[in-house]
Amino acid sequence: MSPADDPAAPPVRPLRGAVVGLGMMGRHHARLLQTAGVTTFAGAVDPEGDRHGAVGDPALVFPTVHRLLDRPADERPEIAIVAVPTEEHLPAVLDLVAGGVHVLVEKPLAESPAVARELIAAVRAAGVHGAVGHVERCNPALRELRRRVLGGQLGQVFHVATERLGPFPARIRDVGVVKDLATHDLDLVGWLGGSGVTTLAAQTQHRMGRPHEDLVNVVGRLEDGTTFTTMVDWLSPTKVRQTRVLGERGMLVADTLTADLTFYANGEVTSEWDAARTLRGVSEGDVTRYALSRREPLLVELEAFCALVRGDEDPGAVTLDEGLAAVDLADAVLRAAASQETVRVLPVRATDTEEIR
Ligand SMILES: NC(=O)c1ccc[n+]([C@@H]2O[C@H](COP(=O)([O-])OP(=O)(O)OC[C@H]3O[C@@H](n4cnc5c(N)ncnc54)[C@H](O)[C@@H]3O)[C@@H](O)[C@H]2O)c1
Repeated sequence: MSPADDPAAPPVRPLRGAVVGLGMMGRHHARLLQTAGVTTFAGAVDPEGDRHGAVGDPALVFPTVHRLLDRPADERPEIAIVAVPTEEHLPAVLDLVAGGVHVLVEKPLAESPAVARELIAAVRAAGVHGAVGHVERCNPALRELRRRVLGGQLGQVFHVATERLGPFPARIRDVGVVKDLATHDLDLVGWLGGSGVTTLAAQTQHRMGRPHEDLVNVVGRLEDGTTFTTMVDWLSPTKVRQTRVLGERGMLVADTLTADLTFYANGEVTSEWDAARTLRGVSEGDVTRYALSRREPLLVELEAFCALVRGDEDPGAVTLDEGLAAVDLADAVLRAAASQETVRVLPVRATDTEEIR
């Protein structure tokens, strides 16, 4: 039983939490840090100020991390969420961990595997906790999908397919669709499929005149033989967010826009199939849509990170090594697309030292 579930346990003091970057993501983190009751609010950092009106007390908006950390000891943050543009993650993390602050870094962890490794080394050297904001793992439909896959509902898993399509968000400046969006999927396929990616091939499109790709299609294989496909773009005129896991007993389909999970069971083999004898295959069976409790994924992520910092051994926070693995896979996807060859992917570890998480 975790301390939170034990009525006899002393009340847990909320951690003092801050957010660095008050943009599209940071404003949501700021809201939860101020209102969710998991933390007390220690402030926000953004050189551009609070353009979205995300912080109730303007005195708690600081232009730099140093100014945030200059506060009296009992007001300084214990944890911080790093929600600056991806290429700014490393400098922000370096400043925070030098001040002894535990960091939850938005995904992707960094713009390249080398920078991700540097970031992880700094977190470990500082002896603080780090985790990565792969918030899709907190989506109720995907959590339930994974629980059912691991529980054996599908029998052997054959294939994982993800689709993340939609229009271009003009705020993205520093990376292409592979690092910005496909890192979600590259993290999910192994998490859902139950083993790491071993090989992949990829095709990209550049249609918007930006230096980076705006569409990617990946096909690959996991260690246990499960295959996967990932289709991601910024070119589609409507948003699609679908994840399918196909196995020997049917298919689970998660729509992460609506947080719906549906099971399409294989039907009974028909007499027609029996008559053919040489043919084996599936037919349509019962369809079940599950009722799910829909907790806000970003809040679930924050709770897991706070539990990690408090010493919970396995709170479900995404580890820094897992964040590095997603960055490494994104790098492999771009190499595969550039070379037009299938790329072998090696399991990654940031360093040989023991992970602090
Ligand atoms: N988990 C998700 O689903 C998800 C979704 C969107 C974005 N993200 C990630 O969140 C991060 C931020 O993305 P965004 O869309 O919010 O970007 P954004 O451009 O909307 O906001 C970034 C903010 O950071 C501020 N900033 C820049 N440099 C700073 C610094 N040194 N210190 C403090 N603030 C600084 C900017 O002024 C801006 O307000 C990126 O890493 C992105 O990949 C994650």
